[in-house]
Amino acid sequence: MASYDVIIIGAGPGGYVCAIRCAQLGLKTAVVEGRETLGGTCLNVGCIPSKALLHASHMLHEAEQNFEKMGLKGKSPSVDWKQMLAYKDEVIGQNTKGIEFLFKKNKIDWLKGWGSIPEAGKVTVGEETHEARNIVIASGSEPASIPGADVAIDEKVVVTSTGALDLGKIPKSMVVIGGGVIGLEMGSVYARLGTKVTVVEYLDAITPGMDGEVQKTFQRILKKQGLDFVMGAAVHTVQTLKAKARVAYRLRKDDSEHELDADVVLVATGRKPYTEGLGLADLGVEMTPRGQIAVGKDWQTSVKGIYAIGDAIPGPMLAHKAEDEGMAVAELLAGRHGHVNYGVIPGVIYTHPEVATVGETEESLKEQGRAYKVGKFSFMGNGRAKAVFAGDGFVKILADKETDRILGAHVIGPSAGDLIHEVCVAMEFGAAAEDLALTCHAHPTFSEAVREAALACGDGAIHA
Ligand code: NAI
Repeated sequence: MASYDVIIIGAGPGGYVCAIRCAQLGLKTAVVEGRETLGGTCLNVGCIPSKALLHASHMLHEAEQNFEKMGLKGKSPSVDWKQMLAYKDEVIGQNTKGIEFLFKKNKIDWLKGWGSIPEAGKVTVGEETHEARNIVIASGSEPASIPGADVAIDEKVVVTSTGALDLGKIPKSMVVIGGGVIGLEMGSVYARLGTKVTVVEYLDAITPGMDGEVQKTFQRILKKQGLDFVMGAAVHTVQTLKAKARVAYRLRKDDSEHELDADVVLVATGRKPYTEGLGLADLGVEMTPRGQIAVGKDWQTSVKGIYAIGDAIPGPMLAHKAEDEGMAVAELLAGRHGHVNYGVIPGVIYTHPEVATVGETEESLKEQGRAYKVGKFSFMGNGRAKAVFAGDGFVKILADKETDRILGAHVIGPSAGDLIHEVCVAMEFGAAAEDLALTCHAHPTFSEAVREAALACGDGAIHA
């Protein structure tokens, strides 16, 4: 039996970051992970592999749509799907091995296997039980099925995001259930590779919770890229027929019943916390009504010495939110101060164009009855964006009407996922839109559009 200052269960972005920070702060640290490789869902079957496929398929799209315009003539590349998957797997391997290297460098023990907690202060992995002054649960999430629907997932014809990253061949047709982040990222990949993609979404807008104007612009751009949408449709049955599947849905506006057949059906209707086998019920760990682990302000559960972070607790299911919580808990366990500013957690969709968002939306501000002003700037007025066929989209900054303090920002356009961070830093410092507007931005960059949106919160953008 080994004894540790902290044992972390799960080596995804929450767990591995927490472990590295704990080790850096002098705590004897171990991580329990049952997968063959470190990095959790994000590195193995989520964020990283999907970005590889998004990149590859975007390159194809550029070749097909824009090369000739730039005087680059010749046949468009053909797709070698096996090689594209091999490239994706190579990217996964590089990243997961990178975490293994960081564990060795920081002298973190990897306890291989699936862990459970027989009592506070103890973690069992296989035959062995280890002692830990503190335990951090970072066990992540798994795809949720459609509530009340009849769906059998085989990861071949009816798939979750995991199966969608490893299809045997590029399907001719695909129905995506759910117009959220996973559905639109993976739907984009296959649409660019030639698949006829139809997104079936329960609500009347895609990407729930995002700024309404962004939702509309995003859907219009995706339609232009060839994705079809059936909105306001509740899927209730997915039936597998030989090498095809049939999706049955009811339109909410008139209760009419419809069906769609496709080679592959991607179920992307959300994820749920993964806490199976940990022994939480026997320990008496309090859960929320939604099956998440309930935690206090210090991320401690109802059982002293057991903490939880990431997708297993309430809040957005985002790798970077889990990472921040992991670092904060490590600081607390080392006797220091740990804090996460939940008001400034960006969200990014890695389609083309990218979509990025932080803070309040116009809808949430209206709901709060808060007086605000809007500064908006179109990428059509940005020279760099026009030069690279990326004039679609805009930057929108929301600022307090009286104080000019930035309350939120929403970007749809080139490199939105990177651009959002200057607004995040500004918000962390409680900046006013004028602070961004008065900051010199290099020309020609996409980031000038952020400055222009900030200028539009005051006396006006220059290039509008
Ligand atoms: P999501 O919550 O983003 O979207 C699910 C969608 O499915 C919603 O729009 C919902 O209205 C719809 N839906 C639910 N039931 C339905 C039904 N019966 N018929 C039709 N539509 C239905 O969930 P998603 O895309 O599965 O992602 C899961 C989690 O993973 C999210 O929390 C997301 O933030 C995270 N994620 C983040 C990524 C990123 O940051 N780029 C990438 C991938 C996932």
